[in-house]
Amino acid sequence: MVEPKDIDFYSLGFNFIETKTMFIATHKDGKWDSGQFVPFGNFEISPASCVLNYGQGIFEGMKALRTKNGDITLFRPEENAKRFNFSAKRMLMPEYEADKFIDAVKKVVKENEEYIPPYDSGGALYIRPILFGFGPILGVHSAEEFKLMIFTVPVGPYFPEGFKGINLEISKVYTRAAPGGTGSAKTICNYAGTMLPAKEAKARGFAQILFLDAVHLEHIEEVGAANFFAMINGKLATPRKTGTILEGITRESILDLASKQLGIEVEERDISYKELFDNSCTEAFCSGTAAVITPIASVNLEGEERIFNDGEPGEVTKRIYELLTGIQRLDIEDIYGWMTKV
Ligand code: PLP
Ligand code: COI
Repeated sequence: MVEPKDIDFYSLGFNFIETKTMFIATHKDGKWDSGQFVPFGNFEISPASCVLNYGQGIFEGMKALRTKNGDITLFRPEENAKRFNFSAKRMLMPEYEADKFIDAVKKVVKENEEYIPPYDSGGALYIRPILFGFGPILGVHSAEEFKLMIFTVPVGPYFPEGFKGINLEISKVYTRAAPGGTGSAKTICNYAGTMLPAKEAKARGFAQILFLDAVHLEHIEEVGAANFFAMINGKLATPRKTGTILEGITRESILDLASKQLGIEVEERDISYKELFDNSCTEAFCSGTAAVITPIASVNLEGEERIFNDGEPGEVTKRIYELLTGIQRLDIEDIYGWMTKV
């Protein structure tokens, strides 16, 4: 374990760093135990465990932030608890009571408090709750024993570009999720399949893939780990919830901020990738817990490139970034009651 004093909180990326304490709870014989806080570390698992063989696993992503006056905050943790249970249900795993989930998250954060990057570093303590089928199986069906774990990692920006525009490649080769599948659940399986496409896109100089819908290869879905937004005809558009995109908590919050606080008309609709190549589309960005608000400098499809706003973050992107991160660090009044203090 790296001691907090040996971490340069000002140059963190999004990489694993071990912290002190994790939470672990077990679901056995139809009920959850009370869980315990233990030193972060390895554990034993059967080679026949359901998660290793058939991918019965889900996760969440949250951040604890340090505010200017030293408080520690969480952003809408009840929404993560809700989505965790939605994902658990979809993967045939037991739910975990929301209040207990939030309580365990808060305690893990508190235990690892020294690893929270300082306010002026812009970093965060990333919180990773996971739930998986722990017990052994052979046929394709659910495990009978499950583990829930929560660990933390100090992080900086997800994209090394930071608040600079990233270049995305629109893929007509790979898709991320199909109707009736698991796209809107935060299951680990959705991520494994995006690693090869992402690696190939990176080798061609792109930060990530922008995925299209699996039926028509026409409508924008999302980036591998973030939701998509674009200003089109003066309105802020984002792909509608079709069951194939991960329904981001940041996405939902941005729709509220843009419409209620910035007076921008918002639309949740099908967005053809062709619209991004038209001059009516003036800026684009992606959003997520890890990605925060990341401006999109360009999109590229089979060699055809569209650069937004000369590659610079657009005006709306900047305003939403300032507002969202301001609220998250309590520099701006939290009029929606989104923030929870630890
Ligand atoms: N889409 C995907 C595939 C993600 O992994 C994430 C990250 O959680 C998001 C979107 C954004 O969701 P949220 O804003 O809740 O972090
Ligand atoms: C998050 O934003 O928390 C995510 O889940 C993205 C992650 C896959 C890095």
